[in-house]
Amino acid sequence: MNSSVGTMSTVQALGKRPDPPDLVAHQARVDHAVLRVQGVGVSFGGVQALNDVDLAVTMGTITGLIGPNGAGKTTLFNVITGLQVQDRGQIVLDGEDISDLKPHKRARLGLARTFQRLETFGSMTVYENVLTGAEISKSWAHPESAQPKEIALKAIDRVGISSIAHQRADSLPVGLARMVEVARALATNPQVLLLDEPSSGLNEEESVHFANLLIQLANEGLALLLVEHDMEMVMRICAFLYVLDFGRLLAAGTPKVVQSNPAVQAAYLGTE
Ligand SMILES: Nc1ncnc2c1ncn2[C@@H]1O[C@H](COP(=O)(O)OP(=O)(O)OP(=O)(O)O)[C@@H](O)[C@H]1O
Ligand SMILES: [Mg+2]
Repeated sequence: MNSSVGTMSTVQALGKRPDPPDLVAHQARVDHAVLRVQGVGVSFGGVQALNDVDLAVTMGTITGLIGPNGAGKTTLFNVITGLQVQDRGQIVLDGEDISDLKPHKRARLGLARTFQRLETFGSMTVYENVLTGAEISKSWAHPESAQPKEIALKAIDRVGISSIAHQRADSLPVGLARMVEVARALATNPQVLLLDEPSSGLNEEESVHFANLLIQLANEGLALLLVEHDMEMVMRICAFLYVLDFGRLLAAGTPKVVQSNPAVQAAYLGTE
């Protein structure tokens, strides 16, 4: 059984794996992780998009996933949420192996995401968009307990967009449309929220506002996994970072440790 997540010996044998201290830091998170990615591999024809990737996401924190374009970040999100079947490895949520479950089953177990390319329903209002998320969280065993309307309104309020609840989604600027996506994800009542480049298209003020919202959600207990190219935001709000490069984990650790890692600087952050 492949239950161990990258022991020292595998680290050394594979060569291009994070330094042992990085792996120790990762290992320390595994025991209390709500979401674990274990040894995931995916290839598209000749392209090895993900290769033996391990990752742990903990409640009440923002975990960052960074790396150059084409590193495999979105592919990993697709594997975690069930849109992409992996060749190898497991996804474990709350101690349960969910690797073979369909996306909607994973959503009901508490996985939610936003997309790199905005995915709102343009002709629907903000409220209607968020309601589609709330329908997912409905309890099928106890339909009388389901209150999707209240759940949707609460999610809209939680991200601070109640004043535009009845506007059409396609009338909104990108900054607000991103908030609609987050509200829709929150309406599914997730334990873990995956965000794929949520600040792209936002101006500086909107990015700061967005980052503050993510901190607030983490403080409320949610586990966040954030793919983001805005390094200032990543370094400020993430408790722990994983760095992907050509589908492999290049480093893992606190933002400070990762920032000073020469391999990460060479691959991604630049040397200044
Ligand atoms: N459906 C697919 N079919 C074939 N190749 C794919 C597919 N999806 C992704 N790839 C390839 O897999 C690799 C990883 O892509 P991915 O989109 O996961 O990267 P990324 O880290 O999200 O990049 P970016 O920062 O640009 O969003 C790339 O080489 C990409 O071209
Ligand atoms: Mg991507």
